[in-house]
Amino acid sequence: MKIIEVTDTNDFAIKSVEFFEKFVTHNSNSLITLPTGNTPLPFYEKMLGAYKKNNKINKFIYLSLDEYYGLEPDDHRLFANWLDREILTPIGVSPSNRITINSACNDVEKFCQKFEGQIESKGGIDLAIIGIGGNGHIGFNEPGSDLNSPTHKVELTQETITSNAEYWGSEDAVPKSAITIGIGTLKKAKNTLLLVRGANKAEIFKATLSNEISSAVPSTYLQEQNNLTIIADKEAMKLL
Ligand code: F6R
Repeated sequence: MKIIEVTDTNDFAIKSVEFFEKFVTHNSNSLITLPTGNTPLPFYEKMLGAYKKNNKINKFIYLSLDEYYGLEPDDHRLFANWLDREILTPIGVSPSNRITINSACNDVEKFCQKFEGQIESKGGIDLAIIGIGGNGHIGFNEPGSDLNSPTHKVELTQETITSNAEYWGSEDAVPKSAITIGIGTLKKAKNTLLLVRGANKAEIFKATLSNEISSAVPSTYLQEQNNLTIIADKEAMKLL
């Protein structure tokens, strides 16, 4: 495990883009998950600038990490649409280089199996870029999730619904269920980059690194993760 401590938001963005650019340069067409949420926004903003200098930064395949369940393809709340607006279209990742979760699928089990098959056919996840929820969720693997599960449907916890309300203005606008890549699949990622930012993540970041590994805090699986890099700011690291 390598922890890169950054001083402020700008430093966070610079270090994240440096890591990403180096990775895609050395591993062309790799399968990469990108998180939504507030944490990665400075990283994506900085990536737009990097793309102007290096237009090969888009040579990767985007893989959905998680997605709300039950939304139509044009819904602005879909994480795939959020990332499309924020980063994928601005840097020119073509739709054919995106493997997304079908929020509107009727047969969830069948869809999840197909999605896992798509990951396997690409040789697995090359780089899982993830954030962390205040309750220790990774993707939408909420506390209590099986740490060996593949992609599956989940019911969101009240804590997650409350925190996601910040994105969409009210809790009513937050879907109550989701499909997420499971921890079992994330554990098999060849490389992982965890992004952590802000004082409100200090407690969960400490628990992630020091609690016993258990589904009570899903992010604790990271303690045993191979090739894990963490980019964290001073605020998030203040309890370590
Ligand atoms: C989103 C995701 C979530 C977020 C987490 C942190 O795609 O996978 O696990 O990374 O909820 O969200 P922020 O960054 O808004 O604190």
